[in-house]
Amino acid sequence: MVGFVSAFLLPKKPETLFVWQIATHPSQQGKGIATSLIQHLLTRPFCQPIVHVEATISPDNKASFRLFEKLAETLHTSIHHEPLFGKELFPDSHEDEDLYRVGPISQKELKNQEETR
Ligand SMILES: CC(C)(COP(=O)(O)OP(=O)(O)OC[C@H]1O[C@@H](n2cnc3c(N)ncnc32)[C@H](O)[C@@H]1OP(=O)(O)O)[C@@H](O)C(=O)NCCC(=O)NCCS
Repeated sequence: MVGFVSAFLLPKKPETLFVWQIATHPSQQGKGIATSLIQHLLTRPFCQPIVHVEATISPDNKASFRLFEKLAETLHTSIHHEPLFGKELFPDSHEDEDLYRVGPISQKELKNQEETR
């Protein structure tokens, strides 16, 4: 396995796909695998009502930030972030987790991306 993604629709905001975990094997990073995983998820039938993608990212996780920034660029939409969980809330030595939100996402834009890949 070279890549993995888990995500769910937020129960109170079913138009939002929350990316819980995403990872690409270190030997395969930077080849567009994580981007493809998210874009593929977004074209599945259960994601048709999706308007936003959310994820939490620690400030030091540059790769993850760039992944979601690139998703926003590719889909010609915006990315916003706000503080969510401060490091004092974690029992171990963990960085802050900020909430990132990509969207609004147009299904037409998604279809265009799928066709050009
Ligand atoms: C975050 C992660 C999933 C990205 O996977 P990936 O398959 O390398 O991502 P992509 O190839 O689709 O790259 C997306 C963008 O991020 C950039 N990127 C990838 N790794 C990067 C790094 N270490 N530093 C900066 N940018 C990085 C890519 O260059 C690309 O941008 P570009 O097209 O402008 O060049 C991967 O680095 C990873 O598995 N990290 C460890 C697990 C993790 O932190 N997951 C996120 C929290 S759950």
